[in-house]
Amino acid sequence: MKGIILAGGLGSRLYPLTRATNKHLLPVGREPMLYHPIRQLVSAGIYDILTITSTDHMGDVVQCLGSGEDFDCKLTYKVQEEAGGIAHALALAEDYAGSDQICVMLGDNIFEYSIEPYVTAFRNQKKGARVLIKEVGDPERYGVAAMDEKHILDIEEKPANPKSSFAVVGLYFYGHEVFDIIKNIEISERGELEITTVNNFYIQKGLLEYSICHGRWTDAGTFESLFEASKILLENDNRILPH
Ligand code: G1P
Repeated sequence: MKGIILAGGLGSRLYPLTRATNKHLLPVGREPMLYHPIRQLVSAGIYDILTITSTDHMGDVVQCLGSGEDFDCKLTYKVQEEAGGIAHALALAEDYAGSDQICVMLGDNIFEYSIEPYVTAFRNQKKGARVLIKEVGDPERYGVAAMDEKHILDIEEKPANPKSSFAVVGLYFYGHEVFDIIKNIEISERGELEITTVNNFYIQKGLLEYSICHGRWTDAGTFESLFEASKILLENDNRILPH
């Protein structure tokens, strides 16, 4: 399995912190934010990792992370010329992924515990895709999963009236067919290729599995959530807890 870290976007909700730098280079606890997804992927036995970021900050990202030697992994980089959404960024990973399974992490998602059990679950999954969900107090900020007892029925991106309190977190698992799916999805009302549209495609085919996220999780895209992310990591000296 290969790891893909998506670290583009404008980070506009964090202005002026992101005026001169990329959101994913901001400090979380003791380290730059991007150290966390790399450490997570390595903790789950994923050592080939592609980081995708925008042109303007690629130099700083490479300077921050290097070859991967410090993390015991192999890092590769790819530039996203324009911000076109998560699925648009992911499409750039097609050649890198080849025929391998992929684990996609949004670079601003922080998990208290290792993602290893979810990675193992997907390694054992014969086909389709897998997402991770987490019960939250403010689901309208996220992709929200409508559920029955066994399945995710539908995911809505930032709904005004969420059908549940389960957010779909920024950790996704796909087979190589995902790249053909992305080629056929439509741009959303906010002008993006949405990862939620991709996941709904898998739901319609009966091919989306899920795990429930254990422990604390947050994104770090707003001032409040950036503070929460720092709190979680600082309490554990930026260590990822084993299960
Ligand atoms: C993205 C996804 C959303 C997901 C969230 C997790 O939203 O579009 O479905 O719940 O990441 O962090 P963003 O916060 O990038 O707008």
